[in-house]
Amino acid sequence: MSFSVLFRSVYSGLVRMTVACGLFAFGISPLVSVAAEVENMRVPQIYQTYCASCHGREHEGGLGGSLADGVWKHGDSDEEIFQSIKVGNVDLGMDPWEGVLSDEQIRGLVIYLREREQEFEFRERKFPTPSPDQVATTDRHNYRTEIVADGLDIPWSIAFLPDGRYLIAERPGPLRVIEADGTVNEPVRRTPRVVHHGQGGMMEVALHPDFEENGWIYLAYSDGTDRRGNVSTMTTLARGRIVDNEWTDNEELWRADREFYTRSGLHFGTRIVFQDGYVFFVIGDRGGWHVSQDLSNPSGNVFRLHDDGRIPEDNPFVGRDDALPEIWSYGHRNPQGLAFDLRNGDLYSTEHGPRGGDEFNHIQRGLNYGWPVVTHGMNYDGTPITEKTEAPGMEPPVIEWTPSIAACGLAVCCGTAFPNWRHDFFAGGLASQELRRLRVQDRQVVEEEIVVKGAGRIRDVRFGPTGNLYLVINDPHRVLRLLPAE
Ligand code: HEC
Repeated sequence: MSFSVLFRSVYSGLVRMTVACGLFAFGISPLVSVAAEVENMRVPQIYQTYCASCHGREHEGGLGGSLADGVWKHGDSDEEIFQSIKVGNVDLGMDPWEGVLSDEQIRGLVIYLREREQEFEFRERKFPTPSPDQVATTDRHNYRTEIVADGLDIPWSIAFLPDGRYLIAERPGPLRVIEADGTVNEPVRRTPRVVHHGQGGMMEVALHPDFEENGWIYLAYSDGTDRRGNVSTMTTLARGRIVDNEWTDNEELWRADREFYTRSGLHFGTRIVFQDGYVFFVIGDRGGWHVSQDLSNPSGNVFRLHDDGRIPEDNPFVGRDDALPEIWSYGHRNPQGLAFDLRNGDLYSTEHGPRGGDEFNHIQRGLNYGWPVVTHGMNYDGTPITEKTEAPGMEPPVIEWTPSIAACGLAVCCGTAFPNWRHDFFAGGLASQELRRLRVQDRQVVEEEIVVKGAGRIRDVRFGPTGNLYLVINDPHRVLRLLPAE
C-alpha cells in the first residue's frame, strides 16, 4: 500500500469515526440517524454534505478524483458510476454509500454528476452558432442563416403553404399567414378559441399531405374554460380551411371527456404527423404522472386516428373496456417532437424528461414507454424519482439525454438542399438552445452532433419544400432558415 493510499484510507476512516462518535454520543446508531437526516435532502445538498470534502465543491477533485473532467477510472456508464458510489472502493478510500443513501438518491447523484460533467466539457468546446453574416461549420454541411420572420408572439409551430407562404401558430392563440418575403399578416379570423394557460395555447399547425386537393389544415390547441380564474384545459385536435384569411369548415376531430380537463398548465404535448391516411398526435401527462400508465386516461399517450377523426379498428386497444381505443402507445411524459423515418415509415418522438432523461423514442404500436415507473431523470428540485431506468414490458428510449436538452421539435431531412444530411433526424432543444443531428441506422443512433447552439430556445424544427431547414425560435421570437453554404 503506498503512502498516499494509506493516508486516504486512514483519513476516510477518521471521517467515519468522527461521524460515528458524534452520533454515538447521542445514543443512536449512526446509519439510522444519517439515513434519517439524509432522507429529505436534495441531491446537490447530499453532494455538498457528503462528497464535496473529497471531490471538491465544484467537483474538481481533491482527496478523491475530479468528478467533472469526464475521466471515469472505474467505469463511465451510468451503471458503473452508480456502483462506484454504492459499493465504493475502500482500498482507495472511497466509502460505500449503500445503506446511507438510497438507490434513488445514488441514481440522483449520477444524474447530478452528469450535469456537471457536461458543463465542464461544454466550457471548452466551440459550437456552430447561426448568425446572418457568418457561415457555420458542421461535420457534414456548412450552413448560413437567414431570419425569415421576426417579432412574433411566442411562435410554436410552422407549416409551409404550396405557394411559398407559411403558417405560424403562436401560443397565445393567433394563427398567422406569413408572406414569402417575411411580412407578418393579421391573425386568421375565427380560429378555434384557445385557452392560453401555462404551457398551453395554440400549439401545432400541420397541413394534410393532400392539402393541394383538399385544403385541410390541422390544429392542436388547449381547449377549455378560464372563467374568473377557474382554468380547466385539455389538448384538442381540429381541422379546417382558410379562405380569405378566415378559418372555415371547422371540424373537431378529437377532444377529451370533460372529466380529464385539468387546472394544470403542464405537458399538453403536441405534434401532428400523417401517414397512409392516419393522423398521429400526442398529449403529455398534464402533470398527472401516473395517469400515463392508465389506458383509460388520455394524458400521456400517442394517438392514432383516421385523418377524418374516426378511430381505426386495428388500433391496439380497440375492444378493451379499460382503454381508450384511440391510443397508439402510452407511458409518455411530454413528447413535443414527432417524425417519421422516410426510409421505412417508423415513427419517432422526442420527449421531455424531468431533470435528466429526455428521450428519443421509437414509437411502436401498443407499447408502454414507462413514465413514471422508469426514467433516467430526477425532479427539477434535485429530489430523486426512482433508481429504475428500465423494467420488463417497458420500452427503453433509443437514446436519452442526461442532462436534459429540453427536447422540442423533431424533423427528418428531406429535399435536396442538404444531401449529406438526408434522412437524418434533427431534434431541437429549449433550455439547451441546441439542434442535434441524429443519424439512425437499424433503429440505432450511430451519429450525434450539435449543429446549432445558442440561437434561442428551439421550439419547432421543419425542413421546407426544397429542403432548407427552418427553426422556430423562442426568445427571441423568430423563424430562422438554414441554407447550405459549401
Ligand atoms: C473520504 C473521501 C471521499 C468521500 C467522502 C467520497 N469519495 Fe468518492 N472517491 C474517493 C476516492 C479516494 C476515490 C477513488 C479515486 C481514484 O480511483 O483515483 C473515489 C471515487 C469515486 C468515484 C469513481 C470515480 C471514477 O473516476 O471512476 C465516484 C463516482 C465517486 N467517488 C463519487 C462519490 C460521491 C457521489 C460521494 C458522496 C456521496 C463520494 N464519492 C464521497 C474519495 C471519497
